[in-house]
Amino acid sequence: MKIDILSLFPEFVQAFFDQSIIKRALDAGRMEMAVTNPRDYTMYRHRQVDDTIYGGGAGMLMMCQPIFDAVHHVLPEKGTRDRVIFLSPAGKTFNQEKAKELYRDYDHLVLICGHYEGVDHRVEEYLADELISIGDYVLTGGELGAMVISDAVARMIPGVLGDAGSAATDSFYEPILEYPQYTKPADYNGWKVPEVLLSGHHANIARWRRKEALRRTLECRPDLLSGLKMTAEDKKLLAEIKREKEDQ
Ligand SMILES: C[S@@+](CC[C@H](N)C(=O)[O-])C[C@H]1O[C@@H](n2cnc3c(N)ncnc32)[C@H](O)[C@@H]1O
Repeated sequence: MKIDILSLFPEFVQAFFDQSIIKRALDAGRMEMAVTNPRDYTMYRHRQVDDTIYGGGAGMLMMCQPIFDAVHHVLPEKGTRDRVIFLSPAGKTFNQEKAKELYRDYDHLVLICGHYEGVDHRVEEYLADELISIGDYVLTGGELGAMVISDAVARMIPGVLGDAGSAATDSFYEPILEYPQYTKPADYNGWKVPEVLLSGHHANIARWRRKEALRRTLECRPDLLSGLKMTAEDKKLLAEIKREKEDQ
């Protein structure tokens, strides 16, 4: 997987490449990431990349030419496994399903970050394959969104996470939240780690984890449960949880 991020603030994005798991994945050659500044491609004087808005309005819009040329530089010939994405509050909201789809269907993502008042609409009309939003709020730029998408996709690449199992149990790999997890000490300020987790009994631990994952989902994100393919055991555990709640 190769991810190109187009940003007027490359240092901001570069800092993300230079840390922790992403840095290790890049160093090990498991993925490639690069940041390109549209300002390096502008044909306008004084490295101009934005201008006032036709018809009036406050602020400046990023112009087409530097963005189109920067995209054509990182993607000279577009194939079916290349995807040009424009980060925009108007896009569909990003989620784990979308991350899976991007990882499965494409080898090269080009993520365009807007800034200022936004981007000339022709980028959306004639350059981007799709728009993605990272939530119903407006940010100052697309950089955080590009990092969110890159991070979520990177975690799916084999070997990027040290322990491949840890991705599979994360919240949202199934539409269910992750069970509570604890580390040492077993007693902190009198708050104890559940006994079963110290028992070494694998079947009991697995049952407890599934039940607590269901409980957390029911409490925090009940909307997810309608999308979960429940086993007979899940249904039994959920019934137990509901009885326990009634008894409280
Ligand atoms: C200040 S915003 C522009 C907002 C634009 N005027 C509007 O109302 O839709 C500047 C840039 O930040 C990025 N951005 C802002 N909010 C975002 C969000 N929720 N998801 C993804 N990108 C976002 C986009 O790239 C956008 O072009």
